[in-house]
Amino acid sequence: MERSFVMVKPDGVQRGLVGEVISRLERRGLKLVAAKLMTVSRELAEQHYAELKDKPFFPGLIDFITSGPVMAMVWEGPNAIATIRKTMGATNPANAEPGTIRADFACDVSYNVVHGSDGPENAAREIKLWFGEVEASWTRSVDRWIFPER
Ligand code: GTP
Ligand code: MG
Repeated sequence: MERSFVMVKPDGVQRGLVGEVISRLERRGLKLVAAKLMTVSRELAEQHYAELKDKPFFPGLIDFITSGPVMAMVWEGPNAIATIRKTMGATNPANAEPGTIRADFACDVSYNVVHGSDGPENAAREIKLWFGEVEASWTRSVDRWIFPER
């Protein structure tokens, strides 16, 4: 089953949106397999966003991600990566579809509430970076009503 790294960013934690984000992913049928509320070091933030290190907004992005606690999570489900990206909406909330997290709760690209891995390689990299090894998954009895047995 596919896994994705998800983070409620400092703006989402400060605004009390942790429960909202978790609730939306749970209702989607995805399964939470790891979670921790934590303050992020500059080193971890820079490693996480290493691909963006030459962008003009990179220093501001690192300042922001290290400015307060984040809720770091691993979620699991069929097509978890794409499903979560769709549920989050476009990077810039101004372009996000209504009904997505970013459209419903944000209005600026730099304070867009949530992060989700953008592909399988980054998902594996980010899960290892933030959690090391994630314990084995857990069985949820309702799973058989969310996706067929595979
Ligand atoms: P993440 O889930 O946070 O990785 O967002 P994303 O995958 O939708 O976008 P990307 O990885 O390209 O950018 C990472 C983060 O940098 C975004 O979530 C934004 O907060 C920020 N960002 C991206 N583009 C811009 C930009 O043009 N200006 C500013 N100020 N911030 C940006
Ligand atoms: Mg990204």
